Amino acid sequence: MLLAFTWPPEAYLWFKTLHIVGVVVWFAGLFYLVRLFIYHREAAELEPPIRAAFEAQYSLMERRLANIITTPGMAVAVAMAMGLLSVNPAWLHQGWMHAKLAFVAALLAYHAFCYRLMGQLQSGYCTWSGRQLRALNELPTLLLVMVVMLVVFKNQFPTGAATWFLVALVIAMAASIQFYARWRRLRSEKEAETARMAAVIVSDGERSSAAG
Ligand code: HEM
Repeated sequence: MLLAFTWPPEAYLWFKTLHIVGVVVWFAGLFYLVRLFIYHREAAELEPPIRAAFEAQYSLMERRLANIITTPGMAVAVAMAMGLLSVNPAWLHQGWMHAKLAFVAALLAYHAFCYRLMGQLQSGYCTWSGRQLRALNELPTLLLVMVVMLVVFKNQFPTGAATWFLVALVIAMAASIQFYARWRRLRSEKEAETARMAAVIVSDGERSSAAG
């Protein structure tokens, strides 16, 4: 006799709860990981002894964040998604799910790429600048918005003014983060230049008073 397996009624709710928890942990990890990459990359501008200490600390933080939080979060999100699909396999034949899976594939590729960047940073061969890493860190936000909209709206994905407003908001937020970072960099360059000039004036003054 063939026994057909059926999940208990509450299984769907448990899978969904843990799926959302996994997704939140995964994204927290992805967002913070690339932020650490930015600090790590910018530590290259520090003086050698401090630089080595910062780089060692960032490397440790990155490895722990990636291996203890980000990847387990991803594994829970994906495993629970499999559970959800096993409760209702009909989702696999729906257009919104195909679109969602395409975005999730992009997210998994991004996750793998973060590991690659981490390896490059830790071996001192990263070719990405802090500015490029900041821009890269906007990609998961966009994927998050698309995936959440797909699971909420499903096949009634909205294409009206509200969607365009949301897209414009995400772009405006990303642009303002880039402008703020640029403004901070220019300000600290200006402060460093002022400090350098002040040091030159003081040492000139000391030299002329010693000569006089
Ligand atoms: C392996 C890839 C994934 C699959 C197969 C998958 C599948 C599913 C399924 C079948 C549901 C239940 C839909 C419903 O109850 O109507 C769901 C819910 C949800 N998924 Fe995913 N998912 C995946 C990855 C993701 C990712 C990466 C995110 C976030 C970016 C995400 C966010 C959500 C959210 C927020 C819900 C709850 C939606 C609601 O209750 O209305 N999922 N997912």
